[in-house]
Amino acid sequence: LNLSIKKEEEALQASKRKAMPNIQKVVQGIFEQAIVKAFPDVSISAIVHSSTQERFGDYQCNNAMILSKVLKENGKSLSPRSVAEQIIQHLPANDVLEKTEIAGPGFINITIKKHFILSLLSDIIMYGVRPPVMNRKMRVLVDFSSPNVAKEMHVGHLRSTIIGDSISRLLEFVGHDVVRISHLGDWGTQFGMLIAHLRDTFPKYLNQSPPIADLQAFYKAAKVRFDEDAVFKKRAYEAVVKLQARESDYFKAWEMICDVSKNEFEKIYQRLGVKVVNRGESFYQDMMIDVVKDLDTRGLLELDEGRKILKVPNIKVPLTIVKSDGGFTYDTSDMAAMRQRVMDEKADWLIYITDGGQGLHFEIIFSASEAVGYVNRKHVRVVHVPFGVVLGEDKKKFKTRSTDTVRLVDLLDEGIRRAKAKLIDKGRDKVLSKEELEVAAKAVAYGCIKYADLSRNRTGDYIFSFDKMLDDKGNTAVYLLYALTRIRSIARLANVSSSELTKVAESASIEFDHPKEWKLAKLILRFPEILEKILDDLLLHPLCDFMYELSCTFTEFYDTCYCIEKDRKTGEILKINMNRLILCEATAMIMEKSFHLLGIDGVDKM
Ligand code: ARG
Repeated sequence: LNLSIKKEEEALQASKRKAMPNIQKVVQGIFEQAIVKAFPDVSISAIVHSSTQERFGDYQCNNAMILSKVLKENGKSLSPRSVAEQIIQHLPANDVLEKTEIAGPGFINITIKKHFILSLLSDIIMYGVRPPVMNRKMRVLVDFSSPNVAKEMHVGHLRSTIIGDSISRLLEFVGHDVVRISHLGDWGTQFGMLIAHLRDTFPKYLNQSPPIADLQAFYKAAKVRFDEDAVFKKRAYEAVVKLQARESDYFKAWEMICDVSKNEFEKIYQRLGVKVVNRGESFYQDMMIDVVKDLDTRGLLELDEGRKILKVPNIKVPLTIVKSDGGFTYDTSDMAAMRQRVMDEKADWLIYITDGGQGLHFEIIFSASEAVGYVNRKHVRVVHVPFGVVLGEDKKKFKTRSTDTVRLVDLLDEGIRRAKAKLIDKGRDKVLSKEELEVAAKAVAYGCIKYADLSRNRTGDYIFSFDKMLDDKGNTAVYLLYALTRIRSIARLANVSSSELTKVAESASIEFDHPKEWKLAKLILRFPEILEKILDDLLLHPLCDFMYELSCTFTEFYDTCYCIEKDRKTGEILKINMNRLILCEATAMIMEKSFHLLGIDGVDKM
């Protein structure tokens, strides 16, 4: 018997080390049981939310009103308040609920046990910030960034990169097996014209690397010729055919052009700390041939003015699988990619991150893939994650003063320049060393660009404004980065090490007596709830809202609760409140983890 108790205890400890419980879900589970017991004839799931106001307790169960209606329909009349009473009477024994109270028409206000809060808080200090419980480990393929070769990576791709990286980080944190893929536009007829132009302007390209660093200008020049010169156009088409046949000189030319672009993209990824594997449309060339063969032999393709199209049930627009010139399209590559991702990659979750303008494209691809049997969405979760367009402060298409489009490298440089100016403005150059100032400026610039993007509902259009994102008041990265360094400095000032805090946590002696302490503690513990919600709808802004609320709540706490008492005259430390330092530590840990999930680097000093 002793042994089995010990084993159980060990298992409990192990699960604590592994995952953080979502209190809202735990409470919901408890109410679920109560409802089933009290009303075995109705099947209805428990509705439990965190309370919007402190006087309504920590969480609220809102089932009574609906249940009363359902019961009435079943010929049983019971007022919502009586229903609420019944639910409360059937609550199973548990270590979580302190108190339940019926309010108004039949709301149940729920207060969580202090002991439960304290033990979860201690767990954070002892085991770190852990992910929420994962039901099933999945292989997730995240298709993001995906710029086009020979074209500049633009702000839309920047959004995809930032959002995709953050979603990938979250999935990785939770423990999923994540494949990060950039579906580069690196194939198609435009390469014929680029190759033909390269062969004309730089015939020695096989032995000497061509001067095409400015690929955009190169692209433009090729395009002009393509549009104006019929002979050139014909050669461009021939070049595509030779490229697709992998004729070596042509293939080499294509590789060179792609490498120039990929190097440029890589610079951006490096600066932003983003990892992604380049697997563009070209990767699927052979698979596209197979897909066409497969669909053709099954008689699924229709001829339409020389094109081969695939019609999708209930959708007006068909997919173009083969163009009249025999070439493949964006559609073909996505059909082949879907098949490869499901069959070879064995992904059970596919996430595509692009601007909302491609919504219809993906809707058709998903339905078509399902219709022809390339994916079964009962087993594979397939989602398009759309985002709005980036606008300038004038609410028009985003561009810089001088040029028509914005080069991302220039944008990042301008961010750093502005962040540095702002830091100097605040006199930080007098406190920080030159290197520290550089580090801080970069962290602030990249952090702000990412945060400004992630903190808004991604589905809306987004106005890019350095002034707003570099503001140190309000819900911005600068504000939060300052908040975090300030919290961190408290422990430093008290000179208490994290191992000392761990000891306090282990001794299970934490106690709070101030309402602001409880408020902060309870908010900290909502972290897993926030993450689980994000895993559901892949909207990241609630994490930013949470960070902002956390730092505001921390300020409220810190303004009223002394963590360190110092002698007014000598500045000597008289008393350190370890319980409160634990709150500081846990807040900082949650903020650091959140920053990490958003892809934002913290700074020690700024
Ligand atoms: N290259 C495309 C663009 O720039 C985005 C590709 C997105 N991914 C995909 N599998 N279609 O618009």
